Amino acid sequence: METLSKPAVGKAHGKVILIGEHAVVYQMPAIALPFLAADVTVTIKPKTGDSFVDSAYFTGRIQEAPATLYNFVETLNAVCDSFDETSKGLYIKVDSQIPAERGMGSSAAIACALVRALFSYFDREINDELLYKFISISETIAHGNPSGIDTNIVSVDTPLYYIKGTEPKSLSLNLPGFLITADTGLKGQTKEAVNDVGELFKKSRTKTEGLIHSFGQLTNKAKSAIENHDIQTLGDILTKAHGHLTQLTVSNRELDTLVQTALSTGALGAKLTGGGRGGCMIALAKNVDHAKEISRELLEAGAKETWIHNLGDSYND
Ligand code: MEV
Repeated sequence: METLSKPAVGKAHGKVILIGEHAVVYQMPAIALPFLAADVTVTIKPKTGDSFVDSAYFTGRIQEAPATLYNFVETLNAVCDSFDETSKGLYIKVDSQIPAERGMGSSAAIACALVRALFSYFDREINDELLYKFISISETIAHGNPSGIDTNIVSVDTPLYYIKGTEPKSLSLNLPGFLITADTGLKGQTKEAVNDVGELFKKSRTKTEGLIHSFGQLTNKAKSAIENHDIQTLGDILTKAHGHLTQLTVSNRELDTLVQTALSTGALGAKLTGGGRGGCMIALAKNVDHAKEISRELLEAGAKETWIHNLGDSYND
């Protein structure tokens, strides 16, 4: 390995699922947006002896990392093994602005930034296929049965329309309005929620299949609304999607409260986003003042943090 004068750096960002979470595990489409307001940087430098991780979750020798970092350690080992390099002798710093376990793609983004930093450190050529392969190692440990949507969206700058097992398609998004994302402050439970939807299938196959299928149709209608720049219709669809997710048992009281708060403040639509059972919700507003008002009400109703995202540069000043 060459000694680098500069540390190797890898970056990635979070994500918001606009619509289609959970159904996407069952081959239905989903639409995800890159969440550029929250990103992660992994920096790697050489050091002597055992590798060391410096992060908000754990700081110490990699051998002593807690079980929650198992996906990180396994991804590190897999990349180093593929290069025939030792995973010792690395100082790895993780700086993440993405709240962990909130359905914002934190685990996939950290894996993506780690893989990019390792490829740069060992001076290897990376491509999309390799990136996907190594992030998937992390995501399979973190979530059990990932659809691949988080794995795909954390490394690209455009919204994606995605069906599991197919090439994701970039979606151009230009809408007269704003997206508010609000964090309940509660850890989401993606793995448990994904498992429980699987259990619903076992208990009541026809009903669950019908629900997932109709959720897939909603996502396709959302795609058409986006293509027609029709934020009003998109809002209605998002609120309906929250109903589907509730029936799939992945909402909870806190998410429902924030969704209701947004709707009673005139949001064009609102739903949970990501794995659910905690984590974040999203709402649509017609202009920036409306978005700020909704954001204030959400904070008043218990949200820990909110973000406002412009959905259309050509519409909104
Ligand atoms: C998690 O961000 C999205 C889920 O649909 C799981 C997955 O697609 O892997 C809940």
